[in-house]
Amino acid sequence: MIRVRFRHVVVDAAGTVIREEPIAVRHGPMIHDCAITDRFVIILDLPVTFSMKTMLAGHSFPYRWNTDHEARIGLMPRHGTQEEIIWCPVAPGFAFHVANAYDDAEGRVVIDLCVYDSMFGDRAQGPDARSRGLERWTVDPEARTVAIATIDASAQEFPRPDERFFGQPYRYAWTMALPADPADRFVGATALYAHDLWEGTRQVHDFGPDRHPGEFVFVPEMPDAPEGHGWLIGLVIDMASDTTDLVILDARRFEDAPVASIRLPHRVPPGFHGNWIGR
Ligand SMILES: [Fe+2]
Repeated sequence: MIRVRFRHVVVDAAGTVIREEPIAVRHGPMIHDCAITDRFVIILDLPVTFSMKTMLAGHSFPYRWNTDHEARIGLMPRHGTQEEIIWCPVAPGFAFHVANAYDDAEGRVVIDLCVYDSMFGDRAQGPDARSRGLERWTVDPEARTVAIATIDASAQEFPRPDERFFGQPYRYAWTMALPADPADRFVGATALYAHDLWEGTRQVHDFGPDRHPGEFVFVPEMPDAPEGHGWLIGLVIDMASDTTDLVILDARRFEDAPVASIRLPHRVPPGFHGNWIGR
């Protein structure tokens, strides 16, 4: 058995590392994303783990589905140590990205994320199972249980909230549709989804045939604007013309035509994403 440690690193507003906490795990899980609430750091210890066999076969990304690895969620107190982590087993599945997480009024931890039945099972390059869509995992730290509810079963990825509400109760999440067939890997759908998590409703913005959006980012119209009042900004590849549009949608008129579209005279490779952190 491979025992490895990963590290929880805290960086302050000035960019200085102020805390590093090692966390021991089995098998070397691929932990792609994390989340925080008022009380906890959330650790997704899911069954995609380092594979020596895959590495020796020459793959640059040697991680595979591992049925021997117990899927679990770790809740580490924000200022605590690995000895204080509350580990909660969860049904096997895999998630790259969390939309948001928060502590609810009953003392549970709510995590919204995009989930797959499995990942990198048949091959190391991409999904081998369909996306289960956007789910809400409710973790009970007392009972150490995780209840799974489907928010939207359509295949989707790259969930994002209004980031001013990171770690807090929130209402809106935006995601990118995925191709229904996992053989198409992650690229090929033409729509974005806007989820109203209070109302349990979804809106669709479809860019049309051969036009493929990437992850869209929410930008508030003013620093103190109400949640969801602002714009969604992202890239849309136009396969027919081999160009890309930087598109701005009004988040409150999500299904309307874009408020602006800026043509880039080439195709920006899809799939890459990240966060802008200003000074
Ligand atoms: Fe990512």
